[in-house]
Amino acid sequence: DTYSDKVQRDSKYKKLDEKDLLFFRDILKDGNYMISNEQDLEFYNEDWMRKYKGQSQLVLKPKTTEQVSEIMKYCNAQKLAVVPQGGNTGLVGGSIPVFDEIILSLSNMNKIRSFDSVSGILKCDAGVILENADNFLAENGYIFPLDLGAKGSCHVGGVCATNAGGLRLLRYGSLHGTVLGLEAVLPDGTIYSSIDALRKDNTGYDFKQLLIGSEGTLGVITGVSILCPSRPTSTNVAFLAVSSYETVQKVFVGARKELSEILSAFEFMDGKSQLLTGRYLKADHPIESGDYPFYVLIETSGSNRDHDMEKLETFLANAMEEGLVDDGIIAQDEAQSQSLWSWRESIPEASAHDGGVYKYDVSIPLKDLYGLVEAAETKLNEANLVDIDSNDKPVVGAIGYGHLGDGNLHLNVCVREYNKNIEKTLEPFVYEWIQEKQGSISAEHGLGFQKKNYIGYSKSDVEIKLIKDIKNHYDPNGILNPYKYV
Ligand code: FAD
Ligand code: MLT
Ligand code: ZN
Repeated sequence: DTYSDKVQRDSKYKKLDEKDLLFFRDILKDGNYMISNEQDLEFYNEDWMRKYKGQSQLVLKPKTTEQVSEIMKYCNAQKLAVVPQGGNTGLVGGSIPVFDEIILSLSNMNKIRSFDSVSGILKCDAGVILENADNFLAENGYIFPLDLGAKGSCHVGGVCATNAGGLRLLRYGSLHGTVLGLEAVLPDGTIYSSIDALRKDNTGYDFKQLLIGSEGTLGVITGVSILCPSRPTSTNVAFLAVSSYETVQKVFVGARKELSEILSAFEFMDGKSQLLTGRYLKADHPIESGDYPFYVLIETSGSNRDHDMEKLETFLANAMEEGLVDDGIIAQDEAQSQSLWSWRESIPEASAHDGGVYKYDVSIPLKDLYGLVEAAETKLNEANLVDIDSNDKPVVGAIGYGHLGDGNLHLNVCVREYNKNIEKTLEPFVYEWIQEKQGSISAEHGLGFQKKNYIGYSKSDVEIKLIKDIKNHYDPNGILNPYKYV
């Protein structure tokens, strides 16, 4: 009933019965690969933000691509709806069922398949946890070309399905470039594979690109082949305090110019995001000289520590001399780098800590980027919903942070409870604001369930029709991840 104002269960989908359970038990060979008791189902039915909750009665955890294929073939024939699930860290309600859809978890498909230490090509099962893939690569002198705060839980297949961006897109580019091939099971059970593709291949349509970012609506990704760069041997991190958004942009221009090829991350955070992160971490901020309106984290990655450090120090000295930076520190060792990164990577957890968070993950031309946070704050204040300290108001505050180097802002409205009044104040206001600035309503998290009704703010009628045509072609029964954005 949670979603009854937004969507109704479609009666074309069959309800699970005993015969289906017997069939799945037979395919999976072992009852341990199925979850159907109330308590264990909870994790799979609820999303990371505790905002969306489904009512699935069954999680299937196959171990092989063939099992996934048999499951999909059966579900397609029976019209049983299915939600593919990775680490369940998605932030748009896409990874959980809306009603009673079967959850197909990839977590038992967690093997590295091969690694070529000459080309840097990693092939692995979709259910390998991102951090495990990166640790494996580290042992071989390579790095996964994507990193994000959820790395300890999210899957390699899950990040491909969402086309996640993360903290180093600026350096390594998007998964549309680094993923070389995928193996996936289509809704009718067909196994598609381009997993042996090489770096260059211009032989017809590149089908895997449709799967990257399809959010579980077009196929179940079971294997990934990805091109990994050499692991940088020298990494430096600087954390800077800046007095205005105008100046943050100037620091970015300077960083690109002066750090050029060694720049590997440029993240920005507003003062309120750091205040809430400090409360959450129960720690003093690394920059002690005061509360500043903006902070910037700059990372460099290269192969010569002295050279990189000299560049970073010169850049910082120049920025201070020009009055762009009010205060700043450079990490002196790995532990301090980690600690500085934690002030950035802990923001998502801090933002949800008081009860919940409304997340807007947007691309906007850089000059207007932070204006969205100010506009949302004004709107919430006008509705008299905000108090950072008092529990009498439902909203703690609106904070802004994100991957400034990619033109990607995260507006987070941190709340003490989810309620319709807050939602109505923010939506469609936020989406209209973004559309007016020719931005995108999702830079990296996707549309999922949260933004299903808002795709028109970023895609034209022609584009939406093409998306629907593709979906109908490959999934005519609509069994894969229904009620979401398509
Ligand atoms: P899930 O959450 O399980 O699923 C996400 C979507 O993909 C769902 O629609 C699901 O149906 C589909 N899916 C999952 N696996 C498969 C599969 N094998 N085949 C087909 N479909 C599948 N995102 C960013 O872009 N950048 C960030 O910096 C970033 N940081 C984050 C930090 C935190 C703390 C958290 C909680 C999330 C963050 N995210 C970020 C969100 C991001 O979308 C997810 O972390 C990640 O991409 C999802 O991976 P997952 O394995 O958890 O997928
Ligand atoms: C991030 O950049 O931290 C992530 O995209 C997660 C979030 O926005 O909360
Ligand atoms: Zn992000």
